[in-house]
Order: sequence, then structure tokens, then C-alpha cells
Amino acid sequence: MAASGRYLRKCTMSTTALEIHDMTVAYQRRPVLWDIDLQIPAGKLVGIVGPNGAGKTTLIKAALGLVPLASGKVEIHGKPYHQQRQAVGYVPQRESVDWDFPVTVRDVVLMGTYGSLGWLRRPGRSEHAIVDRCLQQVGISALANRQIRQLSGGQQQRVFLARALAQDAQLYFLDEPFAGVDAATEAAIFKLLQTMRSAHKTVLVVHHDLQTVRDYFDHVILLNMRLVACGPVETTFTQENLHLTYGGRLTILDEAAEAMRQREPQR
Ligand SMILES: Nc1ncnc2c1ncn2[C@@H]1O[C@H](COP(=O)(O)OP(=O)(O)OP(=O)(O)O)[C@@H](O)[C@H]1O
Ligand SMILES: [Mg+2]
Repeated sequence: MAASGRYLRKCTMSTTALEIHDMTVAYQRRPVLWDIDLQIPAGKLVGIVGPNGAGKTTLIKAALGLVPLASGKVEIHGKPYHQQRQAVGYVPQRESVDWDFPVTVRDVVLMGTYGSLGWLRRPGRSEHAIVDRCLQQVGISALANRQIRQLSGGQQQRVFLARALAQDAQLYFLDEPFAGVDAATEAAIFKLLQTMRSAHKTVLVVHHDLQTVRDYFDHVILLNMRLVACGPVETTFTQENLHLTYGGRLTILDEAAEAMRQREPQR
């Protein structure tokens, strides 16, 4: 994956990228997120961490207006989402996508450019050039004309990243981009995240691997139906907060504790 930032325009928007205020979300009247309050500064890589069913995907969908809020509000660079659609990119959790849909890789990535095209304009040479650049950036140029159902999991992940890049948004939500990819793809995706940060994009990433949180992210959101903590990794990604987030799931915690111990400077 060529991690050049050539294509991405630098974000020059306000310093708070995402603000969630008193947000509660319910499915069939059963709340799954309670009273969430958080602020994310622009230009950061942010991990969203919590156990299965904690509401991580729901938090993203609520921010994008895909599920209704029972209460509260969400602002993206100071405005509601419906005024900021173009500024927000979304890479959904892989299992939630219908990969049998008969479209090619190029078609999917081209969709990223639709928002900037406006009504009734068909994608032309410049949009196809953007697609070519983005496919190259994620290292799948050779697959441009392949049907998406004929791709491996890691390749599918790259297609959605390319679509997000083509959108050239300011704030990105990536739901488990590292799930089920090999070490080389994981390294390539992380490099891409760093490129996005250099262009002052804000990227929120749902992430399950506690051992890499400190290496990958500037900020972290710890979530388990309620917000446990949100802030810079150094002060927020602590043993105590992890216990509050994961409760009794000690195996994961022991692994994380061991990883942290190994990273601490020897005294
Ligand atoms: N469409 C839906 N209708 C009803 N309940 C739902 C719906 N989507 C999610 N839920 C429930 O809401 C809760 C939060 O789900 P969500 O998908 O946000 O969790 P998550 O943190 O993303 O989990 P995972 O790590 O497994 O992806 C879960 O209890 C889930 O069963
Ligand atoms: Mg999820």
C-alpha cells in the first residue's frame, strides 16, 4: 500500500471534530447506549474499544444518523450530520455488507466520489482518476475490474478503505478495519491511518486488539453501554479503566496487562 498523502486535501475545519452530548440510543425501546458525552479533537487517531455488544457499532451508526437517537445530540465540526454528510466517511464492519451484490471494485470506489459530483452529473475522467489513485494507495489496482464477491477478506477491507479515501472526508469512522487481516495488511492499513492523520483527518477506529491500542492511537474511547472513559491514550488506557470496561473477562485483561508490563521501561 503506497501511503502517500498526495490525494488527500488537508482538513482545515474547526478543532473539535466530533461532539456527542447526552446521547442515548435504544433498539425496540431497549437502551444499548446511555448518556454518552464525549469530544474528539480534530486530527487524531482514535480507538473505540469495548467488548462485543458494548455498542461500538451503534455509536457510529447513531453519529451517522443511521439509527435514531432516543435523546441527545451529535455535532460534526460544529454542525449536525445532515449538514456534514460530505465531510464524513464510513467503512462498515465487514460482516454487515452484502458482498454478493454484483458490482466491481471500481464501482464501489467510484461511489466515494458521488457526494462531490452533485445531482445529475455522471462520473467522468477526473472521478476515474481519483479512483485509480485511491486503488493504488491501498495496493489493489490490479483488482479494479473484479466483482467484489470474488475478493478475499483483506482485499474487501481495502476496497472500502479506497472508497473512503475517494470521498476525501474530514472525519472517518472505520468499524473493525483490522479484523481478520494478515500482518502485512494490518501494517499497510496502519500506515494509511498515519497518512490520514498527517492530512489532519480525524479517524475513529473500532479496535479489539488491546495490545496494539497504545501503538496505534492518540486517543481512546472505552465503551460498555456507558462511556467508561475518553481521552489521550496515556492517561485513559489504564488497567482500572480496562477493568471497568471489560468487567470479569480476565483473560483478555491479563493479556493486556502482560503486554503493558513488557512495554514499561525497566526500573
Ligand atoms: N438492529 C438491532 N436491533 C436490535 N438490537 C440490536 C440491533 N443492532 C444491535 N443490537 C444490539 O445492541 C447492542 C450493541 O450492538 P453493537 O452492534 O453496537 O455492538 P458492538 O460493540 O459493535 O459489538 P461487536 O464487537 O460484536 O461488533 C447488542 O446487544 C446488540 O445485540
Ligand atoms: Mg460492532
